[in-house]
Amino acid sequence: MATGSTKMATTEFTNTNLEVMYSEAEIQARLKDLGTEITAEYTGKDLVLVGVLKGSCVFMADLMREIDLPLTIDFMSVSSYKDGTISTGDVEILKDLSNSIRDKHVLIVEDIIDTGLTLTRLVEILGSRGAASIKIATFLDKPEPRIKKELVVDYTGFVIPNKFVVGYGLDAAGRYRNLPFIAVVIDPSVA
Ligand code: IMP
Ligand code: MG
Repeated sequence: MATGSTKMATTEFTNTNLEVMYSEAEIQARLKDLGTEITAEYTGKDLVLVGVLKGSCVFMADLMREIDLPLTIDFMSVSSYKDGTISTGDVEILKDLSNSIRDKHVLIVEDIIDTGLTLTRLVEILGSRGAASIKIATFLDKPEPRIKKELVVDYTGFVIPNKFVVGYGLDAAGRYRNLPFIAVVIDPSVA
C-alpha cells in the first residue's frame, strides 16, 4: 500500500468483500435464548448432541455451553454437496457416530438447512437406531430453497433469505469457517 494512504489493509475478518449479516454479539445473544429453551425442554432426559461436521463445529461449541444440563456429544460427517453447490440428495456417511444412541434423546446440531435433503436423510438413518427422540437444532434456516417441506425443524438460530452465507462454521470451498460472524460474500470471483 502506498505511504500516506488512509485506506486500511484488510485481514480475513475485516475483508471488505464480506457483508456482515449477523455479528458476533447478535449470534451470542441468540444462542443464550436457544440454550435456555433447550435446557428447559431436556431437563431430566438423557441428551446427546449430534453435530454434523464440519459446518456445525462452531455452533456446537457455543450452543453446548449454553445448555445447563448433563449431556454428551457425538459427531457425524456426511457428504451432501457432491456436485459443486448443487445438492444431489445423496447422503454418504463419511464418519459415523462413536456411540450408540439407543434410548437417548438425540438433538442433531446442524449449521444450515437449505433444501432439507441432508437432514431428512440423516433423521431417517438415525431414526432406525432406537433413540428415545430425535430433534433438530439448526443455526440457520434458509426455507426458500426447501425441497423437503415436511422436515420439522425444532430449534432455529436465525431464518435467513436465499443467499449463500459464510462464517461461523460455514464455508465457501473450505474457506471462511473461522469468521466469528455470518456474512455474504459480495463478489465470489474476488479472493
Ligand atoms: P441441504 O439442506 O441438504 O440442502 O444442505 C445443507 C448443507 O448445505 C449445509 O449443511 C451446508 O453444508 C450446505 N449449505 C447450504 N447452504 C449454504 C450456505 O449458504 N453457505 C454454506 N453452506 C451451505
Ligand atoms: Mg452441513
